[in-house]
Amino acid sequence: MATQMKAPPSDKAEIVDVPYAYRDLVARTSPGGRYIDVPDDNESPWVPFGDNAAIKHIAFDVRQNIFSNILWIKSPGVIGTHFHRGTIMMVCLEGSVRYLEYDWVARPFGVILETPGESHTLVTDHPDGVKLFGWMQGPIDFYDADANFVETTDVFWFMNHYETYCRENGLAINPKLYL
Ligand SMILES: [Fe+2]
Repeated sequence: MATQMKAPPSDKAEIVDVPYAYRDLVARTSPGGRYIDVPDDNESPWVPFGDNAAIKHIAFDVRQNIFSNILWIKSPGVIGTHFHRGTIMMVCLEGSVRYLEYDWVARPFGVILETPGESHTLVTDHPDGVKLFGWMQGPIDFYDADANFVETTDVFWFMNHYETYCRENGLAINPKLYL
């Protein structure tokens, strides 16, 4: 009778040669996993995002319109109203953030899920603002205070945001950020 494991076998810290029939295809086609050393500003710099915020870019996946970054709002402030056409997962790392449309306040280690068709407005009241890790998919449409459409951000917008800053500051483009 098959047994069901309670937890994966984890008694030895050693590499096991796992059989897989398609290793050559993986080697030929997969972008490969990697480590992004986020605390190292040489790996990915803080790129200004308006006067009171900065973004540390982590990943760009053009096949799925996925972009990942850390958004840092440096003191009490707002990220204006935007409409999602994809799914977002964010983790609050430091500080706190709330949304005008919802009744909760995100604190460190809290997870925020955003789904297509939602529009909302971020506010941080925390004296040190907020740092949010985000894994984001799909276009985000930004609107002004009168509900006029301003611009769409997507993986290419974020890639351009990163690359423009690198070019203007003589920084090397980090190929590890491109999935
Ligand atoms: Fe959002």
